[in-house]
Amino acid sequence: MQLNPPSVDLRPWFLTLNDIEGPIDWSTFFGNDNPVEIDVGCGRGLFVVSSSVSRPDINVLGIELDYREGRRGARRLKKLEAKNARILGGDVQQTFDRLIVPQSVAAIHVYFPDPWWKKKHRRRRVFTDVLVNQMARLLVPRGFVHSWTDVEEYFGVISALMNHDDRFENLPPPDEHQPEHDMDYQTSFERKKRKLGCPIYRGRWQLR
Ligand SMILES: C[S@@+](CC[C@H](N)C(=O)[O-])C[C@H]1O[C@@H](n2cnc3c(N)ncnc32)[C@H](O)[C@@H]1O
Repeated sequence: MQLNPPSVDLRPWFLTLNDIEGPIDWSTFFGNDNPVEIDVGCGRGLFVVSSSVSRPDINVLGIELDYREGRRGARRLKKLEAKNARILGGDVQQTFDRLIVPQSVAAIHVYFPDPWWKKKHRRRRVFTDVLVNQMARLLVPRGFVHSWTDVEEYFGVISALMNHDDRFENLPPPDEHQPEHDMDYQTSFERKKRKLGCPIYRGRWQLR
């Protein structure tokens, strides 16, 4: 028995920062010119997988620091032979700085970012002024930011960052969707938190 079997090559569904040189040309990357949406910290990829099926006219890229989680989503994309969805293993800030062309992304989704409860760990949070500046640079004019969390305090921080930024307009939040089955949630964390009865805070903004 092999203790550490080599991981299955999931390319092109799972790629890492090392697999990609320079800024991504979306037309070449996805083989079409459809709008591109990015899911930041996509976890095991429920949003990426369901969006690729329900909205074949868009392309979706999930970015996930935890390769194990990212690869779980990529296995489902491979099974579906999805042409319009990929998961990139790596840090979002590095990816945004190195690989994404300014004004090339139609929407950025940040669902249930890790709260990092302890004060001394707060700087590890993903939704910061740095991310806001990157999103303002990478989104197309009138592009969207969607962010949901069950952590009221973190939602306060996210809302303050976004609502006080003149580059973005605050839009009314979407209505809560009543799921028809277990995969009918926006993300795995939304499912987990709603099943626990937690309120979910949903935000939506548009670049002016
Ligand atoms: C609480 S989970 C939420 C996962 C998914 N969005 C959901 O709603 O089910 C947060 C995810 O963000 C990822 N993450 C944290 N920091 C990140 C970073 N700097 N770049 C990319 N992903 C990150 C974590 O590995 C984790 O999978």
